[in-house]
Amino acid sequence: MKILVIGSGGREHALVWKLSKSSGVSKLFCAPGNGGIASLADCVNIKADNIAQLTAFALKNGIDYTVVGPEVPLTAGISDEFEKNGLKIFGPVKNGARLEGSKVFSKEFMRKYNIPTADFKVFTDVSSALGYINKKGVPIVIKADGLAAGKGVFVCNSADEARKSVRLIMEQKIFGDAGDKIIVEECLEGEEASILAFCDGETITIMESSQDHKRIDDEDKGPNTGGMGAYSPAPVVNGKLIGQIREEIFDRILAGFKKEAIDYKGVLYAGIMVTDKGPKALEFNVRFGDPETQPILMRLKTDLMDIIKAVTSGNLKDIKLEWNENPAVCVVIASGGYPGKYSKDYEIRGLDKTAELENLFVFHAGTNIKNEKFYTSGGRVLGVTAMANDIKKAIDKAYMGVRCIYFRDAHFRKDIGARAIKTVNRE
Ligand code: AMP
Ligand code: GLY
Repeated sequence: MKILVIGSGGREHALVWKLSKSSGVSKLFCAPGNGGIASLADCVNIKADNIAQLTAFALKNGIDYTVVGPEVPLTAGISDEFEKNGLKIFGPVKNGARLEGSKVFSKEFMRKYNIPTADFKVFTDVSSALGYINKKGVPIVIKADGLAAGKGVFVCNSADEARKSVRLIMEQKIFGDAGDKIIVEECLEGEEASILAFCDGETITIMESSQDHKRIDDEDKGPNTGGMGAYSPAPVVNGKLIGQIREEIFDRILAGFKKEAIDYKGVLYAGIMVTDKGPKALEFNVRFGDPETQPILMRLKTDLMDIIKAVTSGNLKDIKLEWNENPAVCVVIASGGYPGKYSKDYEIRGLDKTAELENLFVFHAGTNIKNEKFYTSGGRVLGVTAMANDIKKAIDKAYMGVRCIYFRDAHFRKDIGARAIKTVNRE
């Protein structure tokens, strides 16, 4: 079978890596891919959001299945277009992808189907939003409606910060049209976890839990990023809690899909806050998380191609996911300056040394390859991912890999997984 993976990050490298182990896969393509992906797949120079060219490529090359990594092509309707052309694709159609593409749609969906979430109100003008903020007080959370590359949420601890955030989104339009509407919502307290699930429209199968680290610096300081590291499982999500998450969040969302005739086929990712009143959904993503996918797929024993086939054909009920019991940890190495301005094209050294470490894999994100040497080409550059028989050992091993690698101004957090150890020790 010929498979096309769409995207160019660490998540897509993990998808390609896992698919390369599937017995039924004879040829892998990735558009546009990156320096690390190039050793496992043919990289195709088409951007992830160029739906017309991707469709033409898949038709011309007889692609059997396409797997979509990022949210932008999904919200733009890539799956609708592929299906119209008789192509099989893993990722929801446009009306399902709205769950990520519009926070207003998502929150209203949650309210309609009684899914526990923070209380909220939608605003289309600045003065009403400011009036509401005055009434509610702080802390309070301001969110742009549309896609903002993970930067559209402001958790505000002062009224001044909240007012500024509203103006940045609605008047200065820092996210363009994505800020035509905003959500002002109750600030929840607790520990976060990412719960990803496969969904074929009829069945939802939850994956092992995970947790990412959104802030750039240790102790969750500094600005938000795409994710500076992740681990799986997340010890905060124990057996009782996962049952509650299944019943109150995933089963209800599936009921909503059926009621609204949304034929959702792909991954549904719930960002959860574990509060003292139980789990609440912060947001939904309509794809695999990055970097959560790296440790999750390292632990997944089931053939990913079997899952993709089951999801796209509506037979997910026949699949039982099998997992390695051992925890896995991914530490992201980023370019100095990220998530702000950063330089590129620095040579990356030491990757060969990591190849000697067992149960460790370095997933590439922002890299390219020239004359057999790797160079930095993006904000998040590498995701060093390791698995071991306890979380502490997995963390130590991942950092052993990190220490082998060098490029100019490299930045990584030193405390990935520390929260998991704290939770494990507390229990
Ligand atoms: P989202 O894109 O909605 O997941 O928001 C990004 C991050 O903002 C989340 O991972 C949380 O850390 C934080 N966040 C979002 N909504 C809330 C909320 N209602 N209360 C507290 N923190 C929040
Ligand atoms: N790691 C967060 C995300 O993928 O959205």
